[in-house]
Amino acid sequence: MPDVQAVILAGGKGTRLRPVTAELPKPLIPIANRPLIDHQLRHLAASGIRDVTLALGYNADRFGRVDEMAGDLDLRLRIIVEPRPLGTGGALRWCADQGAFDDRPLLWMNGDVVATPDVAALLDVHTGHQSVLTLWLTSVRDVSEFGVLELAADGHVEQFLEKPAPEETDSHLVNAGILMMEPSLLQRIPSDTFFSFEQALLPAMVKQGEALYGLFDGGYWLDTGRPRDYLAANRHVLEGRVDWLPAGTRTQDGLWEGKGVQRAAVGVIQPAVLGDEVVIEEGAQVFGRVALGRGTVVRAGAQLEDCVIFDEVEIGADSEVFGSVVCSGARIGANVTLEGSIVGARASVGPRNELRHTRLARDVEVATGTLIVDR
Ligand code: GTP
Repeated sequence: MPDVQAVILAGGKGTRLRPVTAELPKPLIPIANRPLIDHQLRHLAASGIRDVTLALGYNADRFGRVDEMAGDLDLRLRIIVEPRPLGTGGALRWCADQGAFDDRPLLWMNGDVVATPDVAALLDVHTGHQSVLTLWLTSVRDVSEFGVLELAADGHVEQFLEKPAPEETDSHLVNAGILMMEPSLLQRIPSDTFFSFEQALLPAMVKQGEALYGLFDGGYWLDTGRPRDYLAANRHVLEGRVDWLPAGTRTQDGLWEGKGVQRAAVGVIQPAVLGDEVVIEEGAQVFGRVALGRGTVVRAGAQLEDCVIFDEVEIGADSEVFGSVVCSGARIGANVTLEGSIVGARASVGPRNELRHTRLARDVEVATGTLIVDR
């Protein structure tokens, strides 16, 4: 078991995922009906980590149940709230200043990544090279939105390029938001100041040729920052492509159900996860890659595929919902088409609407028969 402490940065605003993140911080959004952070804590616990710090800021008061999740996993959880957004480096330094860390290697995970890094292997590289900072890397085709690393044959980081143009580098290895570090490194970040670790400290360290290493093992990774990646993360967990467990009991291959689910014998194609008290009326069809939150009702004749429906949502009769996210308490009327869209919490979509590639803010009401097509 690796002797490592961990910190999860979970204080970002998640602007790209609005309106999902309008009142729910990204680490709390459900992935296969379990809060993202619950999956992360499970992975850390399964990796033998016992001490986890949670660095919070935006909507910190929403994290009430995290204590319970950590307790169930036998983790010692320390929650630290910043007085104002301090950026990634500033948040880490703030935690250090509050006495959160001892001198064991510190695993830093961003609170919005879906990944199951091999912590022991990362620690091996870190200690084997007497590294100051070891990055668990992933590879992406289009590197223009990422921090890209070029490695020597032994894994030493030789170049770091933030959001490079395609001609600037041949490397496709990028910072995955999972890093092992010596906690003493945090003393190089100014206290109580907004500071981006990736933009300010990391490039300077690489330039000076410090002992920074990267590990690429091809493990699964996805950042849930954008809607289509959020949907993909749900799909991949349900399909078993990542070793995270959907909520509920596995009642068939690829089907997880909570308590008190009422559904017709046919009508659910796997993979799917159905929360507590979900009702799927006779004649409704769930075509797979679908997560339905607690208390959600799918009326007769409705069809759903590749979507995430949060708690207490009603999907009206004969409606079609594809590739979409519907937040808690929303009402979708009868004969509505929702495709590639996000409906905010408690929004109400009247019957006979067609929403394609649209984001509807929370609490809005769309009258009957207003056609909204946004492409
Ligand atoms: P966008 O606004 O959509 O870019 O999302 P974000 O706010 O989550 O930003 P980003 O994806 O760059 O953040 C990466 C990780 O760092 C996420 O887990 C955030 O929660 C976290 N993070 C970003 N800024 C801060 C901050 O100021 N304080 C803390 N504690 N965490 C932060």
